[in-house]
Amino acid sequence: MESDIARILIHKDEIEARNRALAAEIAATYNGDNVGLTLVPILSGSMIFLADLIRHLPLKMKIALVQVSTYPGTATSPGDPRTVLQLSGDVTGRHVLVVDDILDSGRTLRRVLAMIRERQPRSLRAAVLLRKPSKAPPDVKVDFVGFDIDDLFVVGYGLDFDDLYRNYPHVGVLHPELMP
Ligand code: IMP
Ligand code: MG
Repeated sequence: MESDIARILIHKDEIEARNRALAAEIAATYNGDNVGLTLVPILSGSMIFLADLIRHLPLKMKIALVQVSTYPGTATSPGDPRTVLQLSGDVTGRHVLVVDDILDSGRTLRRVLAMIRERQPRSLRAAVLLRKPSKAPPDVKVDFVGFDIDDLFVVGYGLDFDDLYRNYPHVGVLHPELMP
């Protein structure tokens, strides 16, 4: 696995330090509010970030997983991919913080936020580890950002290429010949 990585973009120690600071920001935002908090990590990319982040968050919280699946077109809509969102818990009336690995085109987060908004949470915010500011659309607002990065394809710390490299501990860039 290591030999597939051309370079480390963000070292795990830097991620760890940033997670502590982000957790402090998040705690300060929700502190003192006695309405319940639910974190909604978007699977699977956010799982490592979530696991590290929440251990620095001294707040009472629930976790509801959301999975975004794209299915090929049906007989009635050939070729039209349908996105299906599945949320594992009830978020109505609760403070919701959606957690994702990366904000790229914003399509994923836009759909997840719209679906949760329909369920009438008490508040709705989003946290991402990485953001590509050159691509992130203005209508998808995130409240907490770990790092802004250049428009590069990155893997590791939860982020995958073809479902691989999620367990690489740093955020890195693949060798060009392996790149999508
Ligand atoms: P968006 O919908 O274009 O914002 O992309 C969101 C999803 O695409 C993320 O949750 C990732 O799973 C994937 N993605 C976008 N950019 C990258 C990248 O640089 N590396 C790995 N996955 C990425
Ligand atoms: Mg992915």
